Amino acid sequence: MSEVVTIGRATLYCGDALELLPGIAADHIITDPPYSQRTHGSHDKQSLRRRDGAAARELGYSALSESDALRLAALLHNCPGWIVWLTDSELAAPLRREFDRLGRTTFAPLPYFHSGRSVRLAGDGPCSWTDWIVVSRTKAQSKWGTLRGGYIANEGWNDKERMGGKPTRLMQLLVSDYSREGDTVCDPFMGAGTTGVACMREGRNFIGIEICPDAFDIACKRIEDAQRQGDLFLDGEAA
Ligand SMILES: C[S@@+](CC[C@H](N)C(=O)[O-])C[C@H]1O[C@@H](n2cnc3c(N)ncnc32)[C@H](O)[C@@H]1O
Repeated sequence: MSEVVTIGRATLYCGDALELLPGIAADHIITDPPYSQRTHGSHDKQSLRRRDGAAARELGYSALSESDALRLAALLHNCPGWIVWLTDSELAAPLRREFDRLGRTTFAPLPYFHSGRSVRLAGDGPCSWTDWIVVSRTKAQSKWGTLRGGYIANEGWNDKERMGGKPTRLMQLLVSDYSREGDTVCDPFMGAGTTGVACMREGRNFIGIEICPDAFDIACKRIEDAQRQGDLFLDGEAA
């Protein structure tokens, strides 16, 4: 049984994405599912080495195996618009091949990184971090315009409510690049709801799914606040 909460332009489900996705219709998917065991494992090792606040740095959810990721790709591939999937170097190449096999057009993964850190194109290594964004569209999709070749997530790097969260600024850029005002964007692995916050700020409708009740509660609150702030801003503009 899943819980559903509607907050203005957002519909949020607390439940399992794999069960709920077949009943969901959205224009685009912009999502940040768990990464591979390789990334989760190295994160856990680093957390153990930190003596301060190691517990607070636990991810609190399991990694995605390659076969899980391919199964998820099969559930998502009928999306009529963009699929934008944040992942690591382990899963980016198999996902690209799978979306192509399923009949979509999938581009070389886009990097996103913090410019203050050293960048390794493999996405892992000492003192470095690069994440990858797999971007795929249907063959029928009309011309969209020129898009960025990568993202630098300097601003808002620490602006997260929960480990594994993404900077709001990064998600806002992705939402603005890969959807249009009034479109409905779905994030089936919304965590603390950063994609939802980005959608509220960019005038999109949002459908979010999250399996962890604590993360779900944080997402509901953040998305409600983002919507209220947007409404206040619009009221202020009208005055
Ligand atoms: C990387 S986090 C997302 C973080 C999010 N982008 C943010 O900024 O807060 C991935 C999320 O997927 C959730 N998750 C894992 N398996 C799931 C499933 N089967 N259905 C729904 N959510 C799931 C985890 O609980 C976790 O919160």
